[in-house]
Amino acid sequence: MKKGFLIILVLGLALTLSACAPAKDPGAAAGGSPAKADRRQIVVGFSQVGAESDWRLGNTQSMIDAFSAEGGYRLILDDAQNKQERQITAIRNFINQGVDYIVLAPTTERGWDTVLGEARAAGIPVILVDRRIEVEDESLFVCWVGSDFRREGDTAAVWMEEHLPEALRIVHLQGNLGSSAQIGRSEGLAAALARHPGWKVVFEAPGDFVQAKGQELIESLPQDLAYDVIYAENDNMAFGAIDALKNAGILPGKDVAIISFDAGGRALRLVLEGEINLDVECNPMHGPRVRAVIEQLERGETPSKYTYVEETWFDAETLTQAVIDRRGY
Ligand code: AHR
Repeated sequence: MKKGFLIILVLGLALTLSACAPAKDPGAAAGGSPAKADRRQIVVGFSQVGAESDWRLGNTQSMIDAFSAEGGYRLILDDAQNKQERQITAIRNFINQGVDYIVLAPTTERGWDTVLGEARAAGIPVILVDRRIEVEDESLFVCWVGSDFRREGDTAAVWMEEHLPEALRIVHLQGNLGSSAQIGRSEGLAAALARHPGWKVVFEAPGDFVQAKGQELIESLPQDLAYDVIYAENDNMAFGAIDALKNAGILPGKDVAIISFDAGGRALRLVLEGEINLDVECNPMHGPRVRAVIEQLERGETPSKYTYVEETWFDAETLTQAVIDRRGY
């Protein structure tokens, strides 16, 4: 009697524990290949760059919203803290976990061939979002969705040509070196410099898209350095630069023109207030776009290899409060 009761207790406990176990491998219970056997949930491993900017936070939230459990997804999010080696480790972890798809927002363009080869060997499709990569074999990734960063740089340069004086001393705050966003925006400026002998870069350094670094760089400028414009390759570095200027009694947007990129809500308010002269849009709401790609793949369709998102720009003349109210980031 006692022995029978003990057996029932042990069996009951075992069943309870297995029901409570985390769904680490949704396919395993069905006895098929890991993750893929249970089509009720699509497992997506997302390797995110980090949390360096308002843009990035908006992008992460967009992915979380798009890949919800209610929508039939399980999102495994990894924050690489701006380090490519962490992204490589994250991708290897996703491969070991047998995810259905890997989504990669790459820190920099180079250095992905080996790990993406491993993903392909494991049969896991890789979708790129935001920045691009340079690989020998482009079949290592299914497709890419993101911004035309070079066009963003060109847009800024044309605005500067039309609104600022021909003799221009430029302070250039770069994003993290080797990232598509930095490369494209810097190329746009370099092309304009070649067209304008009167434009000079008087200071240039990477601020890694981070507000505190933008502030530190402007604070580090020699007192006697004269400049007319700060070309900040994202909003957060522009915020830091604005704080540094104000602390030094210099009026941003008036004494020194501010050019920025991203056009998040916080920055657009500064455009209306006249502290940022131009903000070129970089749209981070990629979650639904990446989900649409995965839905295509699930239906056996082939998505376009490269999809550029539509973007615009804002200055005090073109911006309205309604645009700011609609901003999701
Ligand atoms: O790759 C997009 C860039 O990365 C955004 O401009 C910047 O804010 C972010 O950190």
